[in-house]
Amino acid sequence: MVDVILGLQWGDEGKGKIVDFFAKNYDLIARFQGGPNAGHTLYVNDKKIVLHQIPSGIFHEDKINLIGNGVVLDAVTLKKECDAVAEMGVDYRKNLFISERTHLILPTHRALDKASELSKGTDKIGSTLKGIGPAYMDKTGRNGLRVGDLLDKNFTTQYIRLRLKHQRLLDNFNFQEDISKWEEEFFEALEFLREFKIVNGEYFINEKISQGKRVLAEGAQGSMLDVDFGTFPYVTSSSTISAGVCSGLGIAPQKIKEVIGITKAYCTRVGSGPFPTELTDETGDFLRNAGNEFGSTTGRPRRCGWIDLVALQFACMINGVTQLVMTKADILDGLDELKVCNSYKINGEEKNYIPFQMSRMDIEPLYKTFEGWKRDISAISHYGDMPGQMNTYIDYLNNFLKVPVKYISNGPGREQIVTV
Ligand code: GDP
Ligand code: IMO
Ligand code: MG
Repeated sequence: MVDVILGLQWGDEGKGKIVDFFAKNYDLIARFQGGPNAGHTLYVNDKKIVLHQIPSGIFHEDKINLIGNGVVLDAVTLKKECDAVAEMGVDYRKNLFISERTHLILPTHRALDKASELSKGTDKIGSTLKGIGPAYMDKTGRNGLRVGDLLDKNFTTQYIRLRLKHQRLLDNFNFQEDISKWEEEFFEALEFLREFKIVNGEYFINEKISQGKRVLAEGAQGSMLDVDFGTFPYVTSSSTISAGVCSGLGIAPQKIKEVIGITKAYCTRVGSGPFPTELTDETGDFLRNAGNEFGSTTGRPRRCGWIDLVALQFACMINGVTQLVMTKADILDGLDELKVCNSYKINGEEKNYIPFQMSRMDIEPLYKTFEGWKRDISAISHYGDMPGQMNTYIDYLNNFLKVPVKYISNGPGREQIVTV
């Protein structure tokens, strides 16, 4: 049996915290897509840690963690992350496994990411520049190198061939970067990776499932960044939605039970692209400061705005979300009133769907306004103690989305979560 936790907005919904919270109920936690573009923040014994590639179940000693085939892996980042978790007492050699089909991010992928973004000028995607797009391009273009290839004696020859190909592309971009300085640490990290538990991920996970073990699939990014259904071209390069769990881990769709969708009580986006409910006024600044909305991976300020139910309804539909977790509800504590976007006005007409090309459209969000609760909710542990105004807000969301909000997160701490 497999449950999924994924983000329903443009990423950074608090997936790391929620996966860490739920991990106690599972035997195996697996990442199925994305790479070091992700930044999942956890607080363990009051110490903050940001995970980029290691699944967020790693701090539970008796749980297995798997980096699935759908991920693109940066060995250098992995090595640094492993050092950081080891310092916090984690024996990653024991409970972290990597699928042999996972594609590697090479130093030249990072250079190509930079070159591609520079060439786009003001139309740039706002990529994290971690080499994600070029690594997935080499996967679908059938050129990429995989973790399992590290054990092949021809690995270096294959690497050199691909590097030459990349160099020609970089020359076409007229992009210069001294890649050899990145290669030294890359090759060191590959040695480190060779000593890992490299497994056939699909047999590994299916065996666990048939033994009755409980699997939790951890998404990265969010549904509105999905390569097919997100705000293309301002998206990432992987399938961030529940369908990505099947191809990213090698499991059948009937094995998936709960799809737990995470939404913030408001909305953020980092990088370029459409964001209909964005607030560029003092309320937006308030959300950024109160919510500490600065990228976990790049430190960039996040764009902030009201919750967008048109986008959330779309995300619930394409993912088959069965329950919702609302995070960062405490950030709304200081607001007199809250707004919820429940339709768009496009060319003078009211619409309640996500249009084909949001970035070429003038979308006016239409709002319903709610009274704020103006109370500190961060220490509340029972839903019955939550303010009545929050009840009204949650009831509205439940009715609109037809999916129940089951949990409300009211602080970054591990136990700051309330069951509805
Ligand atoms: P992820 O990428 O989805 O895992 O999210 P990030 O870690 O990038 O960003 C979420 C941020 O919000 C992190 O700094 C978390 O510590 C923090 N956070 C998560 N849940 C809550 C919450 O309910 N309240 C507050 N105040 N912060 C939260
Ligand atoms: P987590 O898992 C928020 C955004 C980037 C950019 C676009 C493409 O922490 O929620 P990429 O590096 O993939 O080429 O960037 O996607 N992006 C994220 N935004 N959270 C993330 O991950 C993101 N990963 C990528 O800012 O707009
Ligand atoms: Mg993040």
